Amino acid sequence: MKLGIIGGSGLYEIDGFEFIGEESVETEWGSPSDAYRHYRYKGVEFYFLNRHGRSHGIPPHSVNYRANIAGFEKLDISRIISFTAVGGIKGVKPGDIVISSNAIDHTSGRAHTFYDCGLIHHIDFTEPFCPELRELLINSAENAGVGVIKSGVYICTNGPRLETAAEIKYFEKIGADTVGMTLFPEAPLAREKEICYANVSVITNYAAGTSDAKLTTVEVVETMKAATERIKALVSALPDSYTVNRNCFCKDALEGTKISK
Ligand code: HPA
Repeated sequence: MKLGIIGGSGLYEIDGFEFIGEESVETEWGSPSDAYRHYRYKGVEFYFLNRHGRSHGIPPHSVNYRANIAGFEKLDISRIISFTAVGGIKGVKPGDIVISSNAIDHTSGRAHTFYDCGLIHHIDFTEPFCPELRELLINSAENAGVGVIKSGVYICTNGPRLETAAEIKYFEKIGADTVGMTLFPEAPLAREKEICYANVSVITNYAAGTSDAKLTTVEVVETMKAATERIKALVSALPDSYTVNRNCFCKDALEGTKISK
């Protein structure tokens, strides 16, 4: 049983997790952000990847998302849980944890598909997150006594700048609850590889213009740090509800999606 985790290094060193080693992987799409750190806990093999690199030197628009996802595929990982820091637009406050239920792509210029030369697939992305993995997260949070908000629409911007107040007003109007910079193209790339993917977002700040406070990265980092113990408790509870077989649509995501000439 193998599970991929994408997040920051704050998630490493969870009590009871046995560190097995680091796996450096090269892919046809280039190098992933970092080596994958392999841990074992309660019969589950966890592979952690630091999305922004070891020293947090890779900004959201420069992450090699294709290499990161292809690296997980090479390690034979069929499920990925992503952790992200986000601004809260509607119905959430700093410190809240949201299991995202849908998403809007507002990025541009990122290498966003594995199928851009010759072979074309149009994957179904009506539901961007694996329903089974979302359920696993919700059950595990409940078992760990970690309060989570069970749904929310994540809008992904290009960054690295934060948003204008007018942009946030517009994002709220089109249905977004949270705003971050890293869900796209990570989520659809996982789907293109038939890997289950779900997202846990930590609200680190009120989105631009929704409070009087000036947005600072210090606030983002501090709020994320404060949520780390709850996130670790949630991750530690995953093996208790984990099932080996996948019965979701992700595993057959490429079926009937190919354009043949
Ligand atoms: N906007 C975009 N990305 C973010 C934010 C935000 O307010 N907070 C954390 N990541």
